[in-house]
Amino acid sequence: MAMIAPSILSADFANLERDVRGIAQNGGDFVHVDVMDGLFVPNLTVGIPVVKALRPVTALPLDVHLMIQRPIRYVEAFVQAGADYVTVHVEADTQENTLAALERVHALGRRAGIVLKPGTPVEAAEPYLRLCDMILVMTVEPGFGGQRFMADMMPKLRALRARLDTVNPGCLLEVDGGVDTQTAPVCVASGAQVLVTGSAYFRREDRGEFVRAIHALAAPGMADGGF
Ligand code: DX5
Ligand code: ZN
Repeated sequence: MAMIAPSILSADFANLERDVRGIAQNGGDFVHVDVMDGLFVPNLTVGIPVVKALRPVTALPLDVHLMIQRPIRYVEAFVQAGADYVTVHVEADTQENTLAALERVHALGRRAGIVLKPGTPVEAAEPYLRLCDMILVMTVEPGFGGQRFMADMMPKLRALRARLDTVNPGCLLEVDGGVDTQTAPVCVASGAQVLVTGSAYFRREDRGEFVRAIHALAAPGMADGGF
C-alpha cells in the first residue's frame, strides 16, 4: 500500500487540533508540516511552536518539511519540539552543512531526509543517499498549496528509487505537490511510497475515502495491509 501524509498547509488553522486529529481518524499515516521562512520560498507558514503544540495531539509521525535557508540552524529545535522526520532542501545550504543537519537529527534519534526542488537533478541527492531515511521529490515549486502537478518529475522519482534500491533500500521515497486521486497512481508506479496531499485531502468531504483510495495503490516494497 501507498502511504499518505496530509499537509496541514491546507487545514483550517482556526481548527488545527480538530483537523490533525482527523488525519489519524481517517487512517492517514503521517502529518506533514510545511515550514516556510519567506526567504527560501516566498511564503511564511508555521514553525517550532506549532510543531510543539501538535505533538500531544497526535500519535502519528510528524513529517516536518523545512523550506528554510540554512536549516541546520533549526533542525535540533524541530526535533526537540516533536518532529519524527525532518527533511531539508539540498538547495538551502552547502553540502557540508546539509550532511551535518542530517547527522544532528540522527544524533537525537529521529529520522532525517532531503528534499529536491523540481529544477534540482537526481545527481544532487547522491552525497546524501546513504544517510537518508526519506527523500522527498517536489512535484510543484515549493511555497504554496494547490498548484498543478508536474508529471515530468516522474523520471526523477524512478531514477531515485533505482539508486535507493541499490544503496539504501529502506529509505522512503516521498512526493509532494499537486497529488490527488488522478496523479497519485503515476507517482506510486514511479516509485513513491509516501504521498503528501494538501488541498486534495482537505477539500474532500469524505477524507477517509480519499485515504483508502491512496492505500489501495500498491507501492513498491510495501506489503499490502501494513507498513
Ligand atoms: C508546497 C508544500 C506542499 C503543499 C502541497 O510547498 O510543500 O506540502 O502543501 O499542497 P497540494 O497538495 O495542495 O499541492
Ligand atoms: Zn511539503
